[in-house]
Amino acid sequence: MADVSELERQARELLRPEVYEYYAGGSGGEVTLRANPEAWHQIRFLPRVLRDVSAVRTSVRLAPPLNLELRTPVAVAPTAYHRLAHPDGEAATAAGAARAGALFVLSSRSSRRLEDVAAVVADAAGSWWFQVYMMQERELTAGLVRRAAAAGAQALVLTADTPVVGRQALVPGGGVISDRDYEDNLGPLDDLSRARIVPASLADIGWLGEISGGLPVVVKGVLRADDAAACLAAGAAAVIVSNHGGRQLDQALPTALAFPAVQAAAAGRPVLVDGGVRSPENVLAGLALGAPLVFVGRPVLWALACGGANGVRALLEGLTEGLAHVMALAGAPSVAALPGLGTVAGPGTAPAG
Ligand SMILES: Cc1cc2nc3c(=O)[nH]c(=O)nc-3n(C[C@H](O)[C@H](O)[C@H](O)COP(=O)(O)O)c2cc1C
Repeated sequence: MADVSELERQARELLRPEVYEYYAGGSGGEVTLRANPEAWHQIRFLPRVLRDVSAVRTSVRLAPPLNLELRTPVAVAPTAYHRLAHPDGEAATAAGAARAGALFVLSSRSSRRLEDVAAVVADAAGSWWFQVYMMQERELTAGLVRRAAAAGAQALVLTADTPVVGRQALVPGGGVISDRDYEDNLGPLDDLSRARIVPASLADIGWLGEISGGLPVVVKGVLRADDAAACLAAGAAAVIVSNHGGRQLDQALPTALAFPAVQAAAAGRPVLVDGGVRSPENVLAGLALGAPLVFVGRPVLWALACGGANGVRALLEGLTEGLAHVMALAGAPSVAALPGLGTVAGPGTAPAG
């Protein structure tokens, strides 16, 4: 089983120091960055006993409109600029994910052309979603979304927690990222401000559905019950509980602790989660709270830096094998048997299930 902290240590040795800092860091005092992984340890399990767990299945099915069949509920969160970690960039990450049977979410800030990434996923019969930032020039966003739909993206992920960028990568006069890093995908830009990230709105959920010819829209970055209800009422197919891996508002609630209230407001619609997931027990915790998919961000970048596509595949397969083991310990032969087996530990917390 892949040890994520060891992987991070190895990646740190391989990456340029400023790239490592860009990937690893959080915003503000990095309170949320540290709190995300710690919060998963506050989820406690109520394992079932005397169940037949001789054949544990990690496969997962999401009903229409998401309509996905995956070998694992461990999914790859959208992260920017994979060519900083590996020369093949997002094409390597996507290949690794597809071979592991995992969902890959491609960032709007991809450093490879989305059509090249889509071809790699199709070759391995994988599944991918496309993440959307609303950009200053709306037609740039629309162009990317139409291309993603034409290339076979199965859903759009609208990132909602970036009204302004919390952690600036494009530092004028020499940041880690150069214009070229996303011009490969976006096309050459005479003026970089055309691609500046601007706030999204509830109305954009419907707009994205329309311009993509009907792709389901998943809203990422939700931490509150009322926001989840509003997104779903506006037509979202699902929400992702996320605080952007501690890179937006510092001191935002860790995702493991935000999850239960969001899920209660979602009236049975899928609520997915990311942030600080580092081990099979963390994945189990997300699933036991009721998420059908649990995303990993930084660990995938470490795996990509250390081993390219094979590294990403090994990480995801390692987490999935570890998950099968802890599912057996929890008395759950399938992912569908997990919701209700986890509860947030704390004074006065009633056990679930
Ligand atoms: C280097 C880096 C780049 C990211 N880029 C994006 C992005 O382009 N779009 C987006 O929606 N989220 C982005 N995120 C946030 C991730 O999708 C995800 O929410 C977060 O990384 C999950 O936390 P984890 O890294 O602790 O697993 C980025 C995160 C990191 C670390």
